[in-house]
Amino acid sequence: MVVKREIVVLGMGGTIAGRASRASDNVGYVAGEVPVDVLVNECLAGSLDPMAWQVLCEQVVQKDSKDMVFDDWALLAQRVAHHLRRAEVAGVVVTHGTDTLEEGAYFLHLTIPQDLQQAKPLVMTCAMRPASALAPDGPQNLRDAVAAVQDGRAAGVVVVCGGEVHAATRVRKTHTYSTRAFASVGGGVLGYVEEGCVRWCDACATLLPGAGAHVLPERPARWPRVEVLLSYSEASADLIDALLAYQGPNGAVDGLVLAATGNGTVHSALEPALGNAQRRGVRVALVSRCADGALVGAGLEGRAFALGQVVSPYQARIALVLQLLTPSKP
Ligand code: SIN
Repeated sequence: MVVKREIVVLGMGGTIAGRASRASDNVGYVAGEVPVDVLVNECLAGSLDPMAWQVLCEQVVQKDSKDMVFDDWALLAQRVAHHLRRAEVAGVVVTHGTDTLEEGAYFLHLTIPQDLQQAKPLVMTCAMRPASALAPDGPQNLRDAVAAVQDGRAAGVVVVCGGEVHAATRVRKTHTYSTRAFASVGGGVLGYVEEGCVRWCDACATLLPGAGAHVLPERPARWPRVEVLLSYSEASADLIDALLAYQGPNGAVDGLVLAATGNGTVHSALEPALGNAQRRGVRVALVSRCADGALVGAGLEGRAFALGQVVSPYQARIALVLQLLTPSKP
């Protein structure tokens, strides 16, 4: 008897599930409208051998990803882990909006246990054009993501878009409109999906640093509040001072990510305010506002978020929230 293998597709919303009133409209649409099972039925019809594969769809949330909150990603992480633990599951595909995909991917990278990331593919995908478009990119991306699961060799969270496979730690949205909207910094793409086959060009079976570093609590009473600030010419400390003085309904600020210039330099006007923040127990993490490259060299220990690692300000924010919430594993 042939035992069917299962591919689970978890829907989070986004443009891949977006709908416009006119098929010719690629930008005036509402994201997160088409249910994930409808998408899957339309996109994968006839592409999988029904004797060998079955697809299970689950709508986790249905959102424009700009509005994603930590509870959404925590729920996603729970559902991903649940399905990856099931013996019959070959891997999981997640459909997600592009706008915060690199944050969602990094959240999963940090919170899905290492053994699960190593054992089975976890592939995120997306689209730049809505499902209602004349020439949508979502169907091909979804097929490519499924092909990456079937390939079976991916380890760690990957993002498949525009025929490219990106590691969750490296992926960045670099274009506002193009269907090739993503790039990989600090090491390049992991591979390409071509006509249903993955051509790997990197060590696809290696987990990248930080994988599964945090164990999520069941349901945090409050997610730590971490804000992202920038250093730029004529920057002033007013924003930091205002944040330190603010006591909103969600509490005071717990951490600040400062996107510094170049290799971690900070405008002199910000330094006293940052010192003040640290003295008041607010965690300050320095990253670079450069699109690529790690913070390197002496003098940054204790200030740089992750010396020698390429981390965007938005990824550093995800990581800092998790660090403040849960102790990381060695
Ligand atoms: C979103 O991020 O949910 C909307 C934009 C997109 O998916 O491209």
